[in-house]
Amino acid sequence: MRAWAIIATVVAAGTLAAGGTLAAMLLRGGISARSEPSSFEASLAFKARQVALRGSRDKRNPVAPAPEVVSAGLSHFADHCASCHANDGSGQTEMGQHLYPRVPDMRLARTQELTDGELFAIIEDGVRFTGMPAWGDKSEQSQLKSWNLVHFIRHLPHLTPEERLRMEALNPKGPEERQEEQDEESFLKGQNPAPAKGGHHRDRRTR
Ligand code: HEC
Repeated sequence: MRAWAIIATVVAAGTLAAGGTLAAMLLRGGISARSEPSSFEASLAFKARQVALRGSRDKRNPVAPAPEVVSAGLSHFADHCASCHANDGSGQTEMGQHLYPRVPDMRLARTQELTDGELFAIIEDGVRFTGMPAWGDKSEQSQLKSWNLVHFIRHLPHLTPEERLRMEALNPKGPEERQEEQDEESFLKGQNPAPAKGGHHRDRRTR
């Protein structure tokens, strides 16, 4: 066979395989985000991401580890990331568990075994076709914040209960949540009847 014929066959076979995989995925779950990705789909996506990240793998963190750096990362994470990833990085939030793919538990090997450069690139540029947004704007300041976050992500497996409490105070709150907190406070001071519990979003951040 001539070279062009071999190439054409390989391309055609590749296109068919990719089309077939996509069709199988759509038939399996439609476009609903309810089901979890199959292990095949998850491993395919992970491998593709690793290939896309290869240029960032060896980037060194220019920020030296220090308590102030972890603390800066902690505040930033509580404010910007915990809505999906949870304060402790477990991913146990209403949003995190209903995104497709689910938000991973960042305390585990899957995340901790990524290099600093890979974590930095994911934070700066996000991950296409997932809920992970791009946070960087390429400025020196935003890059510094992302490197601080990398140090904080390394700290997640050792997060203390005090640190978690500090984060809870920093989590963004909507007017409803703020009102509930105020009601609870007044109730504890004996000023009001018991606050009504429940509501769809009440336990949005479970940790
Ligand atoms: C809107 C939800 C959302 C927010 C907010 C969010 N993330 Fe994510 N994040 C995701 C999803 C979904 C993934 C999984 C991506 C994937 O599977 O490739 C992810 C993955 C990651 C990963 C890769 C972990 C791994 O093992 O794959 C890192 C690191 C990360 N996020 C850091 C952050 C940081 C830092 C912030 C805040 C500045 C943040 N994320 C805010 C949804 C979010």
